[in-house]
Amino acid sequence: MDYFFLSLLFTVSLSTITFLLFRPTSTASRRKLRPPPGNIGLPFIGETLQLISAYKTENPEPFIDSRVARYGTLFTTHVFGERTVFSTDPDTNRFILQNEGRLFESSYPGSISNLVGRHSLLLMRGCLHRKMHSLTMSFANSTIIKDHLLVDIDRLVRLNLDSWTGRILLMEEAKKITFELTMKQLLSIDPCEWTEKLRKIYMRVIEGFFCIPSPIFSITYRRAIKARKRVAEELSLVVRGRRKEMEKGLKKNDMLAALFDSNGGNGGGGGGGGGGDGFTDDEIVDFLVSLLVAGYDTTSTTMTLAVKFITDTPLALAQLKDEHDEIRARKAASAPLEWEDYKSMPFTQCVINETLRVSNIISGVFRRAMKDVDIKGYTIPRGSKVFTSLRAVHLSQENFKDARVFDPWRWEKMSDPTNFMPFGGGPRRCPGYELARVSLSVFLHHLVTRFSWKPAEEDKLVFFPTTRTQKRYPIIVQNRSSIAKKCIE
Ligand code: HEM
Repeated sequence: MDYFFLSLLFTVSLSTITFLLFRPTSTASRRKLRPPPGNIGLPFIGETLQLISAYKTENPEPFIDSRVARYGTLFTTHVFGERTVFSTDPDTNRFILQNEGRLFESSYPGSISNLVGRHSLLLMRGCLHRKMHSLTMSFANSTIIKDHLLVDIDRLVRLNLDSWTGRILLMEEAKKITFELTMKQLLSIDPCEWTEKLRKIYMRVIEGFFCIPSPIFSITYRRAIKARKRVAEELSLVVRGRRKEMEKGLKKNDMLAALFDSNGGNGGGGGGGGGGDGFTDDEIVDFLVSLLVAGYDTTSTTMTLAVKFITDTPLALAQLKDEHDEIRARKAASAPLEWEDYKSMPFTQCVINETLRVSNIISGVFRRAMKDVDIKGYTIPRGSKVFTSLRAVHLSQENFKDARVFDPWRWEKMSDPTNFMPFGGGPRRCPGYELARVSLSVFLHHLVTRFSWKPAEEDKLVFFPTTRTQKRYPIIVQNRSSIAKKCIE
């Protein structure tokens, strides 16, 4: 009984504190507080140049650090053409992300919508978004990965590594692996000439995300829009073919089948939009492209940076090798990894967490305030752009000891990493988080059990327009079995 009242008291107090700290300004009578302090810089360009020049270096932190020191964890700046409130506080970030659709909504510029397609999950809102987010989760959840996807992840990673010899650009290899995995998971298509052709076209679409988004001023953007159209045409052919197969009773077990099924798969002639009449081909293609976009750069860059970080931290690499050699020793040389193997990689998960924490492939997400919202003594005015900086939280001393050091062992002791949100939070939390983890784990397993490697040349991290290494991380690989053979001789 006491426990019940204590819990009740605790819950009521917590709700009251949360309500007082973060609340929508709903009544006209309440006085508006001032917006978060800051500097909006020069007319039109604001502080965009300062941000870009910081993120082009190996150490972009001073841009945020100096503003936090001056104004606090919630500050206003003006970047990329708009006044923007930056949040670097974990509670505020959580609050913003959890209130998606109520107080804040995701906000992407029109140039992004041209590239991902207007029926993409990233741009959906409300009911349809909830439905399609949950559909995506159900295609990438642990049971599906365990029973169905893992075997292909293992096979395709091996197949790629089979061709590795001498000098390779790890970033390029990781992208190829990720693209092939996604094609298999979405459409049940194994690597072939068609997937390679599509990948080359798709890479031009990706370039469009990181250039000046103007068809008049940027050739890259124009090329990206054209490439997007070609990718859509290619995917439409596949979707049409699969509809015909379905009519003949042939069914596959992939994302496309889930999309057909979600509305009965009745031919797509209806109004779409999840209204029960079946999605149109255009809607399905946009949806597939958005999954490809969301998982491609993120997973492949994380793969590359995990390897860079462990290469630079020999003790971590040695421990990782031991963990995977032990798993391999229990299995026949060519036996695929199973779910139990994945579940017995605790140090690998530490390496993955730490890579996600330090690299912050998605450094933060943009939202727009749907109404005036009071947060921590300020009002974020309705219509304001808000940037929840995941990077600032992950790299703050307040939240993680020696926050700017790669230390995978910290995760052995971390019981409640509530401030760790590499996959975002709330209704838009990344539906591919488990899939990404499994792909990374399988990749690291085959890499460390089969190869030794060393960097082919100095390479460094940069953060603009995306987080990546400047030279695509060139390494020289050597098969471990050939090294062992040489040692015996
Ligand atoms: C290391 C790899 C990955 C990272 C770090 C990552 C990170 C994120 C983050 C931070 C968001 C939240 C965006 C927001 O709140 O606006 C997100 C959303 C999303 N992610 Fe991932 N992601 C990864 C891999 C994947 C994979 C493999 C897939 C494929 C299924 C995927 C699919 C998506 C989709 C579709 C969304 C949009 C969700 C929505 O708007 O409802 N991600 N991801």
